[in-house]
Amino acid sequence: MSNDQAPTQEQMQDHLPPQTPSFAMLRTLGGIAMLAGFLVVMVFQWTKPIIEENKRIAIEKAVFRVVPGAASRKDYVLGKEGLFTADDANAQGEKIYAAYNDAGELKGIAMEAAATGYADVIRILYGYNPACECVTGIKVLKMAETPGLGDKIAFDPEFLKNFEALDAKLNADKTALENEIVAVKHGKKTQPWQVDSISGATISSVAIARMINQSGNKMYPLIMKHLDELKGN
Ligand SMILES: Cc1cc2nc3c(=O)[nH]c(=O)nc-3n(C[C@H](O)[C@H](O)[C@H](O)COP(=O)(O)O)c2cc1C
Repeated sequence: MSNDQAPTQEQMQDHLPPQTPSFAMLRTLGGIAMLAGFLVVMVFQWTKPIIEENKRIAIEKAVFRVVPGAASRKDYVLGKEGLFTADDANAQGEKIYAAYNDAGELKGIAMEAAATGYADVIRILYGYNPACECVTGIKVLKMAETPGLGDKIAFDPEFLKNFEALDAKLNADKTALENEIVAVKHGKKTQPWQVDSISGATISSVAIARMINQSGNKMYPLIMKHLDELKGN
């Protein structure tokens, strides 16, 4: 047999790269994708109640912190359309947390407020006491303010003192705040509805006062309208 004879079919196949078995590959990839999807769903289902419970505990802690004397809470949604229990599917408005002492007396209402600060949106939970018509405490939930400057809004004791009994009275016809809640430069507070800013962080301080002022003008008239229901009467 001479060397310049044409190669046979078998010889040619020996020199070809091995073919990828596409069906087997698709089956394996499909199996892995299904398993991954199943695991994601499993982990989601497993962690959901844990996350919900942690969220509930965190909210409760924050509510009890901004409403002194609170020992229990009831969640509502409050809007122009009325006061709804939080589980009402038709509820429209903002979520509020009514906080009660051991005797079941309403000690205050906690609610969220937000405004843009120096870096980004600042979000807080704060307490309002309809009996004194005053703000009773704030807790920063989210912010991106500068460490050492704006972030002091979350922990500076002198700044937080502003919100222990900040005047938030409504006007005579109970439609808006009697005095706008405003931040003033550090050391310039003269009125009980003013917020004494943090020196060097006036922008962040102004944002806190502005968000409480906006929330107050919108929410306190509604709270007063539904006060008897919130008290549980
Ligand atoms: C890098 C940098 C970061 C700053 N971060 C903040 C901040 O987070 N919050 C804030 O209110 N001011 C911040 N400032 C300062 C503001 O620009 C502004 O000077 C200050 O709020 C004014 O406060 P004062 O009136 O007490 O001086 C920052 C300034 C610089 C240069």
